[in-house]
Amino acid sequence: MTRAPPGKDGPSSGNAHGEEERWTMRDFTDSTVIVTGASSGIGLGIARGFLDGGARVVLNGRDPGKLDGAARALGRPERVAEVAGDIGAATTGEALVRTAVERFGGVDVLVNNAGAFVSTPFTEVTEEELDGFLLGGLKGTYLTTQAAVRRMREQGRGGSVVVIGSALASHSVGALPCSAPSAGKGGVYALTTALAAELAPDGIRVNMVAPGVIRTRTLGRGAEERYASVGLLGRLGEVGEVAEAVLYIAGAEFVTGQVLRVDGGHTTGRTG
Ligand SMILES: NC(=O)c1ccc[n+]([C@@H]2O[C@H](COP(=O)([O-])OP(=O)(O)OC[C@H]3O[C@@H](n4cnc5c(N)ncnc54)[C@H](OP(=O)(O)O)[C@@H]3O)[C@@H](O)[C@H]2O)c1
Repeated sequence: MTRAPPGKDGPSSGNAHGEEERWTMRDFTDSTVIVTGASSGIGLGIARGFLDGGARVVLNGRDPGKLDGAARALGRPERVAEVAGDIGAATTGEALVRTAVERFGGVDVLVNNAGAFVSTPFTEVTEEELDGFLLGGLKGTYLTTQAAVRRMREQGRGGSVVVIGSALASHSVGALPCSAPSAGKGGVYALTTALAAELAPDGIRVNMVAPGVIRTRTLGRGAEERYASVGLLGRLGEVGEVAEAVLYIAGAEFVTGQVLRVDGGHTTGRTG
């Protein structure tokens, strides 16, 4: 079986007990990474993290002007490509993969980050709002992953898929009603575990990073006062803290089917 480590192998030395001490540096120099929803917030931070780690990155978002602005802000144009489009359409995932192949020669890592958040009481959620989370978030993640995995299989060197979930999908907060986004994130969790099992023989690892409440424009004003106390650490998370976890799990060669919670203790307990 060929495997495809997005990271670089470090020095290899068997110790006195014959144990393999090979370790992996988070260096993505020879990797091509697709990041959906990379024109703002967490996705933009993830794209910057991979670029800093040496990767070539294909960015996606719906609004082409906003995506252009993000690409300019990231700099390093020789290692950045853009594909605007709604991931709910299969053609967007296909275009992302085509661009990765044409510009950079292949796809090694897919980060399914695109998504939105709206807090709406259950009985007030409209069908349109529900469709946004189920067709954009869940179906879009499914279709984009399908396109990337088809290519990864063709390449025959494995790969890594990271899905951005949410702590709220397993640990709800009554004051922050979010049945529609949570239904979508519950679906992508099930997809993560199903694909981890199905794609392991191809050397393709599939993991989820589940953020708690992270400081992005999605939250609006007053978020610190309202939501800092939902986690044990008593503060909001930062975009860079999620990006760091995504880079770790994307390159962690012995980790698949896991949920890495970056939530300040939101899903662990209460301080009082
Ligand atoms: N912030 C938090 O506290 C938090 C907590 C848990 C999980 N998350 C998850 O983290 C991810 C990023 O959230 P964020 O807070 O960074 O939000 P954000 O700042 O609003 O960024 C969302 C990104 O996704 C893109 N996007 C949204 N729907 C899309 C679609 N259907 N197709 C293609 N692109 C789409 C947006 O581009 P356009 O604006 O052009 O559409 C934008 O680039 C989401 O999956 C969210 O559910 C966030």
